[in-house]
Order: sequence, then structure tokens, then C-alpha cells
Amino acid sequence: MKEVNLKHFTFTLLIVILVWSSTYQSCNARRGKHWRRSRTTSDSLYKKKYKNHGNNHNHRGSGYKSKSPPKPPVKGYSPAVPPPSYDDGPPTISSTAFNVLQFGAKGDGNTDDTKAFEAAWAAACKVEASTVVVPPNYVFLVGPISFSGPYCRQNIVFQLDGTIIAPTSWKSWGSGLFQWILFSKLNGISVQGNGIIDGRGSLWWKESSQLDESLLVEPRTNTTTDKNNSQAVTSSDLYGQMPSIKPTALRFYGSFNATVTGITIQNSPQCHLKFDNCVGVEVFNMNVTSPGNSLNTDGIHLQNSRDVVIHSTNLACGDDCVSVQTGCSNIYIHNVNCGPGHGISIGGLGKDNTKACVSNITVRDVVMHNTTNGVRIKTWQGGSGSVQGVLFSNIQVSEVEFPIVIDQYYCDKRICKNQTSAVALSGINYEKIRGTYTIKPVHFACSDSLPCEGVTLTNIKLEPQQERYRMFNPFCWQTFGELNTPSLPPIDCLQIGKPSSNRIQSNRDSC
Ligand SMILES: *[C@@H]1O[C@H](CO)[C@@H](O)[C@H](O)[C@H]1NC(C)=O
Ligand SMILES: *[C@@H]1O[C@H](CO)[C@@H](O)[C@H](O)[C@H]1NC(C)=O
Ligand SMILES: *[C@@H]1O[C@H](CO)[C@@H](O)[C@H](O)[C@H]1NC(C)=O
Ligand SMILES: *[C@@H]1O[C@H](CO)[C@@H](O)[C@H](O)[C@H]1NC(C)=O
Ligand SMILES: *[C@@H]1O[C@H](CO)[C@@H](O)[C@H](O)[C@H]1NC(C)=O
Ligand SMILES: *[C@@H]1O[C@H](CO)[C@@H](O)[C@H](O)[C@H]1NC(C)=O
Ligand SMILES: *[C@@H]1O[C@H](CO)[C@@H](O)[C@H](O)[C@H]1NC(C)=O
Repeated sequence: MKEVNLKHFTFTLLIVILVWSSTYQSCNARRGKHWRRSRTTSDSLYKKKYKNHGNNHNHRGSGYKSKSPPKPPVKGYSPAVPPPSYDDGPPTISSTAFNVLQFGAKGDGNTDDTKAFEAAWAAACKVEASTVVVPPNYVFLVGPISFSGPYCRQNIVFQLDGTIIAPTSWKSWGSGLFQWILFSKLNGISVQGNGIIDGRGSLWWKESSQLDESLLVEPRTNTTTDKNNSQAVTSSDLYGQMPSIKPTALRFYGSFNATVTGITIQNSPQCHLKFDNCVGVEVFNMNVTSPGNSLNTDGIHLQNSRDVVIHSTNLACGDDCVSVQTGCSNIYIHNVNCGPGHGISIGGLGKDNTKACVSNITVRDVVMHNTTNGVRIKTWQGGSGSVQGVLFSNIQVSEVEFPIVIDQYYCDKRICKNQTSAVALSGINYEKIRGTYTIKPVHFACSDSLPCEGVTLTNIKLEPQQERYRMFNPFCWQTFGELNTPSLPPIDCLQIGKPSSNRIQSNRDSC
């Protein structure tokens, strides 16, 4: 009994610390990438105006100025059926709709509708299972906004059928914000509909992707260089304008039972959809769309969250399609298409000697096309904690540079200090990973001091995509486990069984 109470107390304390600390974190920590491709810097900053993203991702075709023609109703859609109430109190009015137009929103794509959205939320917040209605065929310009509890009633629905666009002026972002649209501290929150959330982030990507980092280090006193390097100077000037913290488009924080379905999130300045400190998350039938060269634009980012299901979703972006960070457990990702993007990743974990705990992650029935990685686990040297119980199953890859990756030497600088401590990896299972790769089929770089344990490979069939790049053989370092079936190519480098040396157990036990 005592032990249980103590455990409970420790757990609560941990949650409090995690909640506190995560407030200061953002996806920003994950800047640098191994195998980052060089980017062309030839795009003129002047050529493209904000509304032109230089790609075809505005699949509604027309610009934002004119309203798109009325769309047929979505089949099978019935408005806002309130989920069952879990409230102890007496039953309250249900299914009350609060349309943002009634609160003064213009929806013309130019007028700032932030206040109207805030007012609609304030009204909906007071009614259990109410609905905020964002109607179709309107484009709402909304600045950074917070739909926050904790004093709201349960099970609010945010019915998004129109389009919400972000401001592109730096003035709207102050000195930098972690997110554009925030739902926080809610119990039962559903964002649904067939609408669009458009971060119009191309300005932020350009600023980063064209930034010549040497210009930030060296004072620009040499006018000769400046004149001859006008492209870089322009980037540097831009850098001075936009805050360095780039916002996530849609973020859920500290909430229970959060659902996102039906909508499209596109062109985020950074992560498209992020959950942290959430319990009970479901994401399905939705799309994330950004160009493959949009820097740091994760599809879905999970942190300190558990009981998460992501399925039936198309993710195309410039960074990880799904990124699973520290504090995540019971994550189930299936029937997802990924690409372009950097694949599905666990980590980077353990940065700056931090402790990371990740367990029970299943990723199955995924199709990846034209991604840099397939399924990847990345940890920094010097971290602690563990990743335990991971299954990657039925992953179909085509034209993927590195389909299977464990990198325990993850480093975004040129040189990272060698450190003995590491995030312990165990029980990492790969089955039915098939398709084509363009650089290296398997790359397992495990820690010297804490080798990977229980890495199993079953039904691996990876063939080189012809006529592209130079190919590499499978690589393993300090990787122990089982090869359950013959693989293509043969993965001889896997060490069968368990490491003989005494593995440091304390890390893992403390998770
Ligand atoms: C300025 O740049 C030019 C060309 O890169 C170089 O030759 C020159 O030494 C530089 N002058 C100073 C003061 O750094
Ligand atoms: C700019 O660079 C060109 C060669 O690339 C050189 O001929 C020219 O003198 C430079 N201009 C200035 C202002 O230094
Ligand atoms: C979340 O939803 C489930 C049912 O889907 C319910 O059992 C659970 O109590 C809900 N959690 C909270 C905190 O309301
Ligand atoms: C997602 O994209 C796919 C393929 O482009 C499309 O068929 C589907 O209707 C989209 N789904 C949503 C919810 O927008
Ligand atoms: C792969 O993705 C890159 C980056 O987004 C893109 O430039 C390229 O056209 C894509 N290739 C294929 C074959 O889809
Ligand atoms: C692992 O996660 C799945 C959801 O993906 C859940 O159903 C299962 O109960 C979890 N297992 C444990 C031991 O918690
Ligand atoms: C770290 O260790 C590796 C392998 O032992 C070695 O090649 C590398 O130079 C070391 N790096 C540093 C920064 O000491």
C-alpha cells in the first residue's frame, strides 16, 4: 500500500515537472539533421509573394481573395453528435453551436478575425459538448490564439469546415511563439470537419533555408563581400525580422481525449500538429501537406503523451512525418502514408544529458515514398533513460535513402563530445520492411557503452533503387538481437544474442 502511494506521488511529481519543463521546449531543439540535403538557394525572395507558395499545395486552387465555390456536403457527416458526458454534475445543455460569423468574424481572408474566434470560444467554453462552428467557403485570418481550459466544460467540438490562415507579418508573432493555434487543458476536445489550417509558413522556411550561417557569426563590416553576396545579405536581413522561434500550427497541451479528424493542415512555419502532456489522443482521416524542402516542418509531433492512435492519415512535409519524443508511451501509428519527409522517428532523445523514457510504440502498415529515412530511432550521446518495446511492422518503402536507422550518435553540430552515458535501447522489432532504398538499407549505430539489445529482424527485403547514388552495405555497431528470417540484403553485421558485458541497468530501471 505504502509503495503504491509512493509510486503515485512520484508519478504525480514527475507529471508536474514534465508539464513545467515542456513549456520551455519546442520542436526547435531538433534543428540539425544528419544527412541533411543541401538546398538550392536560387529561389529569389522577391519572386514569390506570400500567397504564392511556389508549389501546388493549395489544392483548392483559387487564391484566398475569392471564396471557393460551394462544396457538396461531406458524405456521412452529421453535425456535432456530442460524445457521452463524463461529468459528475447534472446534465447540461448539449450540442449548442457557436458560429464565428455570429461573433463578428468576416471570413474575407483579410480582416483579422482573432477576436471573433476568441468570443465564440468564450461562449462555447461554458456549455458542455458545445460546438464552435467555422463555416465552409470562408477564409478566416486568425492570429496566434489560445482556446484554453481548464475552466471549460467537457467535450467541446471545434467544427472546422472553412479555412483558417495565419498572419504573415512578423508583427503578429511578437518575440516568438511556440504555436499559432493552441488548445490547452481541456477534457474532451475534438477538431473536426473538412476545413484547412494554413500556416502560410513559406517565409519562415526561406529565412532558415537560405540563411548563410557564417553571416550570423561574422559581423557584416566588409561591404565588398556584402555587395557581392546580395542573396545572403537579404536572408540575413529577413532573419532579423522573423522571430527565431517558429510556431507550431496546431498544438494541444495538457489535455485528455483530444481528437483531430477530417481537416488538412498545411504549410506550417514548423511542426504542423503537436501534442504534449496529453492522454488519449486520436488523429485520423486527415492530411498534412508541406513541400519536401520546408525546413523543420514535422507532420505530427508527440511529447510526454500516452495512449495515442494515429491512423488513416497522409503526411507530406519537410521533416519527420511523425516524431515521437520523450515521455511517450502506448503509441499506435498505422495506415499512414509518409512522403516527402524524413520518415517516422523516435527521438532525438537525451540531448544535453537529459533523461528520456519511451515505451510501447507500434508503427505498422505504413507506406513511405521518397523520404530520407524510413523508421528511425535517434539519441544523443550523454543521455539516459530508455526506449523499450518498439515494433515497426509492414513498412513499405520506395526510394527511401535510409529505410532502417538507429543512430545513438545523433549530433546536429559538426562535432559532439564522446560520452559514455546513453539512452538504453531494447526490444526493437522490425518485421516486413520492404521496398527500395537509395543509399543504405540498414544503419545501426549503437552506443559503445550501452549496446542495443533485442533488435529483431524478420522478413526484411530491401533492394537498391537503380541508377541513383552510390550504395552502401548494411551497417551495425554494437547491435545485438536476432535475425528471424534470411534478409535481403544479408545483414551479417547483427550480433546474435545478448551483449556479454554488463550493461548498465540503472538507466533503464529508473524509467
Ligand atoms: C573583404 O572581402 C574581400 C573579398 O572577400 C577580402 O579580400 C578582403 O580582405 C576583406 N576585407 C576585410 C577588411 O575583411
Ligand atoms: C564582385 O565579384 C566579382 C567577381 O565575382 C569582381 O569582379 C568584382 O570586382 C566584385 N565587386 C566588388 C564590388 O567587389
Ligand atoms: C476519455 O474517453 C474515454 C472514453 O472514450 C473515457 O473512458 C475516459 O474517461 C475519458 N477521459 C477523461 C479524462 O475524461
Ligand atoms: C487527403 O489527401 C488524399 C490524397 O490527396 C485525398 O484523397 C483525401 O481526400 C484527403 N483527405 C482529407 C481529409 O483531406
Ligand atoms: C522527392 O522529394 C524531393 C523533395 O521534396 C522532390 O524534390 C522530388 O521531386 C521528389 N522525387 C520524387 C520521385 O517524387
Ligand atoms: C501498448 O500500447 C497499446 C496501444 O498501442 C495498448 O493497447 C497496450 O495495452 C499497451 N501495452 C502495455 C503493456 O501498456
Ligand atoms: C569519438 O569516438 C570515435 C570512435 O571511437 C572517434 O572516431 C572520434 O574521433 C571521437 N570523437 C571525439 C570528438 O572525440
